[in-house]
Amino acid sequence: MDEDQDLMPIVKTAGRPKKIYQTPTGTHDILPEDWVYYQKIFKVAEDVAGFYGFSRIETPMIENSELFEKGLGMSSDVVEKQMYAFKTKGGDYLALRPEGTSPAARSYIQQGMFNWSQPVKLWYCGPFFRYESPQAGRYRQFWQFGLEVFGEINPVVDAQMIQIFYNILKELKFKNLVVEVNSIGCPSCRAYYKKLLVNYLKTRETSLCGDCRRRLRENPLRVLDCKEEKCQPVKSQAPQMIDHLCEECNGHFKEVLEFLDELELPYRLNPYLVRGLDYYTKTVFEVFSESTKKEEGSEEVVITKSALLGGGRYDNLVKMIGGHDTPGCGAAMGIERIVELMKQSQIKPKSSVRQPEVFIAQLGSLGKRKGLKLFEEFAKLNIPVAESFGRDSLKSQLRIADKLEVRYTLILGQQEALAGTIIIREMKSGKQETVKLEKVVKDVASKLRK
Ligand code: HAM
Repeated sequence: MDEDQDLMPIVKTAGRPKKIYQTPTGTHDILPEDWVYYQKIFKVAEDVAGFYGFSRIETPMIENSELFEKGLGMSSDVVEKQMYAFKTKGGDYLALRPEGTSPAARSYIQQGMFNWSQPVKLWYCGPFFRYESPQAGRYRQFWQFGLEVFGEINPVVDAQMIQIFYNILKELKFKNLVVEVNSIGCPSCRAYYKKLLVNYLKTRETSLCGDCRRRLRENPLRVLDCKEEKCQPVKSQAPQMIDHLCEECNGHFKEVLEFLDELELPYRLNPYLVRGLDYYTKTVFEVFSESTKKEEGSEEVVITKSALLGGGRYDNLVKMIGGHDTPGCGAAMGIERIVELMKQSQIKPKSSVRQPEVFIAQLGSLGKRKGLKLFEEFAKLNIPVAESFGRDSLKSQLRIADKLEVRYTLILGQQEALAGTIIIREMKSGKQETVKLEKVVKDVASKLRK
């Protein structure tokens, strides 16, 4: 069996075996009880982005594969191992978007956004696709909310970008946020640093894990963010990029840190933070939520870290994919990871489904018809109303009304329907009164206002 094919349970129904189809490996349904978390995150993120002058952009979920190969780099894990790339029936090479920065940059060029007033500030939100080994917090289809600023070179943007995401997470009531920043320089100072790093790593090659030995040849900077125990001693003595930045990159980074200090935003320098995509230049950052927990039966305190978002500056991306020389800076946060953390931290958003105040119960076909029309009259006044038109028993309808904790149930029996009246039952007291059907919406609306 294909390793990606989830086991399809065979269920026996009336003697015949039946296959139950499952979501493909690494993908998941978002059920209503979870969608409220997504909605809450989208709302907070959109409001904050709007406040800072960002406008929404929607790009297709498919793009030319080459866009990502050029922007992220052929040897990046995302392109090499994780991209869903395919040839269409028409012979085009397309990919399901694994990230949103390259599509935004493609759109900036294609739509002539360089003619707009600069900087251009965009936000996006939607599903992205990466062929990952499924594990906690890693999906093959996941949601990202991202911000991109094109056309501004000033380091103030880098600091403000971190601040905006920090504000979003704070607004979502997260505590223990850790911001990690680093600078990976520009292609010229990085080339020199890469040589130093490779020379050093070669002397320690046998102490590296298998993946890092490969990275040493293909993408040596990635050795620095390897999480393997075996590689940690090698990493800890490796030369650091920030000690080898050129004057311009050094000045830029210094200013970013000064702005963060001015904003009193707590951050940590992490010389091993490199991010895995070729388009980054200068500032890179990630935000984590750090929590400590004691393993059961052990005195040891374990620190768990989960990257909620990542980003940085990408001053060469627009040029790399065929546009003018245009600086850029942005970041994206993983919605699934934020939902997971909200659940762990017991942050529960309110459901956006409105609590009904009125229930319409009906008997007989005339009662049902009149009830259906009445429902629309309440809808026009935006009064939340509930029904169970599929049920015929009054008893079971009243039971539902009780469960929904509505204030009033309106009963349209056959007799009332014929007489053009309706019963208003106040649920708390059980008091009932009969009124004219054409007056009931007005009556109930005024009762609800009291
Ligand atoms: P990234 O670090 O690859 O950056 O992804 C950003 C965030 O998306 C991660 O921090 C994580 O929360 C979430 N994420 C990534 N992969 C997965 C996955 N397989 N399952 C669940 N969540 C995931 C980018 O994508 C850049 N485009 C960010 C950026 C925008 N840089 C500049 N502008």
